[in-house]
Amino acid sequence: MSKESKEKLIQRYKRGERINHWVVALCFVLLAVSGLAFFYPAFFWLTGIFGTPQLARILHPFIGVVMFVGFFIQFFRYWKYNFLDKEDIKWMKSVKTVLKGHEVGDVGKYNGGQKGMFWLMTGCMVVLLVTGLISWRAYFAEYFPIPVIRLALLFHAWAALVLIAGIIVHVYAALWVKGTIRAMVEGVVTQAWAKKHHPRWYREMMEKNRAHSEKD
Ligand code: HEM
Repeated sequence: MSKESKEKLIQRYKRGERINHWVVALCFVLLAVSGLAFFYPAFFWLTGIFGTPQLARILHPFIGVVMFVGFFIQFFRYWKYNFLDKEDIKWMKSVKTVLKGHEVGDVGKYNGGQKGMFWLMTGCMVVLLVTGLISWRAYFAEYFPIPVIRLALLFHAWAALVLIAGIIVHVYAALWVKGTIRAMVEGVVTQAWAKKHHPRWYREMMEKNRAHSEKD
């Protein structure tokens, strides 16, 4: 018996979705590193990762556009699964119990925490794009008065800090909930994982697989 059939796996992300996610994640790391280097003199040495500070300064906005486009694609893949329902409210109200390892509510593909994070990421991405374009010296900044550029940079830094804090939580959850990182690396989760953390999604997937096998 193969490892797969023994473990009873369910596909959660296709290859295209995983590549999309990791391109966004890589861009995020490069942007966070270079952004922190521009913002805090103590981190200036981090620009060395790009070769020279000048290169970091040139590349930062281009990588930002790639991240936004990548996230935009993710947004259209997942927005429909990220609307809060009453089961998510139950989950959110009992988050302390969840953190102790006992799941609450009939959770679908994503739980209340993931959904909140999805909208937080979306909001930060939009603010980062708009403020980033306004303050992009090489192309657009000349069309805006200096006070507008200053405000844009202030909001850019705030959105970046909120996103960095959010992604730290996102990564922690991905590593802390056993079996979750596999979803984004191999594309699969075990049925036991799905049943425990996303019972409604588990039932939907089983129903879909049953319907498929009856058709074949
Ligand atoms: C850098 C390290 C990162 C790790 C280790 C990581 C890990 C993961 C994992 C394991 C999942 C699957 C969760 C599940 O299906 O229950 C996931 C989903 C997702 N990740 Fe990440 N991620 C990272 C960075 C990012 C970044 C930077 C973004 C965007 C700003 C992002 C956006 C998403 C989105 C939109 C989903 C789909 C789930 C949803 O709609 O809530 N991730 N990530």
